[in-house]
Amino acid sequence: MSLRGFIYPNQDESLIGMVRQNRSPKGLFDPYYVPEKLLHRDRELDAIRGIYRDSYEEDYGVNCLVHGITGVGMTVFSRYFLTKLTPHHFDAHTVYVDARKKDVLEIVAELNDKIHRETNTPITVAFDLDVLWMQFKRMAASTSKKTVFVVDGIDETNEEIYSKLAHLSKEIRASTIGVLNSHDYRLLTKGYATKVAYDFEIPLDTYTQSQLYEIVRQRVEDTFPLGLTEEVVRYITDCVIEFDAGKPRTSVEALKALWPMASSGQEITSDAVRAATSNITAAAHDMDYMDTIDTISTNDFMTLLVLESLSQHLMTYKTETYIDRKTLNELVLIKCEELGVKFIPEDIEKSLQTLIFQSIVFESGYSRNLLYLIAPPEILYDSSLSLRRELARRK
Ligand SMILES: Nc1ncnc2c1ncn2[C@@H]1O[C@H](COP(=O)(O)OP(=O)(O)OP(=O)(O)O)[C@@H](O)[C@H]1O
Ligand SMILES: [Mg+2]
Repeated sequence: MSLRGFIYPNQDESLIGMVRQNRSPKGLFDPYYVPEKLLHRDRELDAIRGIYRDSYEEDYGVNCLVHGITGVGMTVFSRYFLTKLTPHHFDAHTVYVDARKKDVLEIVAELNDKIHRETNTPITVAFDLDVLWMQFKRMAASTSKKTVFVVDGIDETNEEIYSKLAHLSKEIRASTIGVLNSHDYRLLTKGYATKVAYDFEIPLDTYTQSQLYEIVRQRVEDTFPLGLTEEVVRYITDCVIEFDAGKPRTSVEALKALWPMASSGQEITSDAVRAATSNITAAAHDMDYMDTIDTISTNDFMTLLVLESLSQHLMTYKTETYIDRKTLNELVLIKCEELGVKFIPEDIEKSLQTLIFQSIVFESGYSRNLLYLIAPPEILYDSSLSLRRELARRK
């Protein structure tokens, strides 16, 4: 009986499984987590599967480079292919090595270790690079099945081992998939070694607002026991699209920051979401709001009033992250009536355009009708209110 079985009697174990219903924070904290379905990568997955299928059926080795901007999902893409598609479609061994921050000896030792484990062969302990490589080469060449290798995180420091492995793959009719970010891709594909080592490349694009929204939604469903509101998911997506080129990595980081609050049953406020996304929006926060608002609103009473109403609303309703244009119009109308100012709806839109242009107010990528802030509404409210009062005094 395994130790695990011994500690948890079978009955309890299945009970834990039932309660959890597959929702586990693993999807936030495990860097190698692979979702059940990889969303919005059908084209790229079809491509890699097609390339591999031909080589499998015709018995030759084929090497690929998977690349994209960091955080776009290269690791999850290659691991999805390796752990979900390959076992399903091909009878092959699979070996994954995360080469990042590892030296050549560590990488070769890991390759050697993993190919021995795949083939259930005992390993002879060795510490010498050449010996390890020979052991690995011998094992890799003698497997009865074909092998797919993934080397994740190729850069200058381990480029040599990638091309060596890719060359070996050709010899022994295996396949090697190299994974690297756009920066290293540009650097390494200029050189000769990497260039001759691969046959195909699969570029991974960033996501659109709606695609990223679905990815975030899926991750929330996989991980948060009580879920998160639509507003929160949408807000994270909007911030990541606006400030971080639509990288899923950044949205998962934001979810990670919200996890402690959510799992203890606390309500997620817009302040919490802002805090969770603050490192991507940081550049925007360096803005001196008082100063900017002062400049754009010189003698522009209406813009101040619009900003004041908008931020007051979001300040009052802490779980709301957006305000729609209709609600805003109504709020401004009320304020105008209170102050005895003439209400001209077109002026609100003009003011909004100014505020959007100055990156104080943002339109949701989901719907233009939804407006959001990334600055704490209190700050914007105080600034606009005091500037408006000053303007009124001066007149
Ligand atoms: N299409 C997708 N569907 C679901 N989740 C995705 C998708 N693309 C990326 N992710 C998730 O986004 C996060 C970042 O992905 P990943 O770690 O693969 O990025 P990366 O491109 O390898 O980044 P790095 O440059 O740091 O290596 C992971 O949590 C991953 O599961
Ligand atoms: Mg990665």
